[in-house]
Amino acid sequence: MQLLQSLILAVFFSYGVLSLPHGPSGQHKARSFKVARVRRGTGELHGPSALRKAYRKYGIVPAKLNIDLADFEPITTEHTAAVAASDDDSEPDQTGAVSATSVEGDAEFVSPVIIGGQKIVMTFDTGSSDFWVMDTRIQETLTGHTEYNPSNSTTFKEMAGYSFNVSYGDSSYAAGPVGTDVVNIGGAIVQNQAFGIPTEVSGSFVEDTNSNGLVGMGFSNINTIQPKAQDTFFANVAPSLDLPVMTAALKSDGVGEFEFGTIDQSKYSGGIANVSVDSSNGYWEFVTPQYSVNGGELKSIGTVNTSIADTGTSLMLLNEDVVKDYYSQVPKSVYVDSVGGYIYPCNTTLPNFGIAIGTESLATIPGNLINFSKVGTNTTTGESLCYGGIQSNAGESLQILGDTFLKAFYVIFDMRGPSLGVAAPN
Ligand SMILES: *[C@@H]1O[C@H](CO)[C@@H](O)[C@H](O)[C@H]1NC(C)=O
Ligand SMILES: *[C@@H]1O[C@H](CO)[C@@H](O)[C@H](O)[C@H]1NC(C)=O
Ligand SMILES: *[C@@H]1O[C@H](CO)[C@@H](O)[C@H](O)[C@H]1NC(C)=O
Ligand SMILES: *[C@@H]1O[C@H](CO)[C@@H](O)[C@H](O)[C@H]1NC(C)=O
Ligand SMILES: *[C@@H]1O[C@H](CO)[C@@H](O)[C@H](O)[C@H]1NC(C)=O
Ligand SMILES: *[C@@H]1O[C@H](CO)[C@@H](O)[C@H](O)[C@H]1NC(C)=O
Ligand SMILES: *[C@@H]1O[C@H](CO)[C@@H](O)[C@H](O)[C@H]1NC(C)=O
Repeated sequence: MQLLQSLILAVFFSYGVLSLPHGPSGQHKARSFKVARVRRGTGELHGPSALRKAYRKYGIVPAKLNIDLADFEPITTEHTAAVAASDDDSEPDQTGAVSATSVEGDAEFVSPVIIGGQKIVMTFDTGSSDFWVMDTRIQETLTGHTEYNPSNSTTFKEMAGYSFNVSYGDSSYAAGPVGTDVVNIGGAIVQNQAFGIPTEVSGSFVEDTNSNGLVGMGFSNINTIQPKAQDTFFANVAPSLDLPVMTAALKSDGVGEFEFGTIDQSKYSGGIANVSVDSSNGYWEFVTPQYSVNGGELKSIGTVNTSIADTGTSLMLLNEDVVKDYYSQVPKSVYVDSVGGYIYPCNTTLPNFGIAIGTESLATIPGNLINFSKVGTNTTTGESLCYGGIQSNAGESLQILGDTFLKAFYVIFDMRGPSLGVAAPN
């Protein structure tokens, strides 16, 4: 195998967005929408719920690994916020650019989508391939959600005889009839986009009032529409774009951007690591054979040597041995069953983590972006405890590079190949 060249993509970041959490930069103002942060106090543990969500999505059942520590007192509310679109935002421009706003301390990133003229805030999910939206046909009262109303759209068409049923792991799902409408994402328009208008969704989606549905950006071979699978928005729009690409520039605790059809050279520095994608499982999957902790030696990642890039998962879930090795270099870190993952005192400076993208490039995530959220206090010492953005995939044959990874880079989802490009963000 070819030796890794030391193309270190990203080590140093100023991350102005941490100190400027609300403002989109002046340059992109017209493309962004404003956020209103509202305290809600859902009582949910932030990091652990992100991990549970990822496990649920991929049907991962974690094995019990370790004992619970009695001296751990979980906090009950942290990072609770809601997003709302303001009234005065401009219509999207013709470049196919749309804001991606962090909610609940990077638990997810949400973007405005216009369906039949109705603006709905949704989650782009490169880890699934169904587009469905909270709609007025759902029997339950959807407090806090914006519902798409098909009868208010003159362009909506029911797809008679078609239905969808997407389930993420065992317990979360959405199912119901299917229709088409004009879908406009930041100026990139598909006239007849097929999407689910569920009559039933699971409780977890009802509770998540930050988002009103998913826009699946995986490959169409895992779309669940019956009797015939339908193409995703990205697949439909790709032929009419300048370049058949979608780029993600996610910003921790801030407003980033998804763009369609263009690779904006002002958004990254240096080269693009371009790796071939295997789409046979429906995911943006590629080889990631090696890793390195804090610039140390490159080690084999193990027999599961591929990963998927998933905008719809908050954390980075890696092979257990890799995760163990990482936290062996984090002083006073412990694995706690009750929160399902590794925690450490919040004042700990986390090491950087490098992962090979293909066989020629190493993408390095700075330690400060791996510090995911506060999770509790140590009842013995009174120290605040934090939850790591790198956690175990519980022995699954899949590693998931979620937002913890993606927000460290400028990432190009490229239909040519297909392939994935990773570069250092500006
Ligand atoms: C709490 O602090 C004690 C003493 O430093 C330590 O032994 C224990 O592992 C800590 N617990 C957690 C959950 O970090
Ligand atoms: C949408 O339709 C409902 C009735 O189906 C109506 O009450 C409501 O005012 C309509 N909203 C808009 C924005 O037209
Ligand atoms: C969706 O699929 C699940 C099992 O995969 C099934 O239990 C459920 O009844 C289905 N829902 C609909 C509306 O078909
Ligand atoms: C990844 O693992 C497979 C078998 O598990 C192996 O055939 C392949 O050579 C490995 N790829 C790299 C780049 O190490
Ligand atoms: C880790 O994140 C927590 C919560 O966001 C923060 O309070 C803490 O200062 C961070 N730790 C470091 C070393 O930056
Ligand atoms: C973190 O805080 C604890 C208690 O306040 C202190 O004992 C420890 O030295 C600090 N660690 C670092 C790395 O600053
Ligand atoms: C990545 O590689 C593919 C071919 O494998 C090529 O078509 C595409 O243009 C490359 N993308 C970039 C951003 O260089």
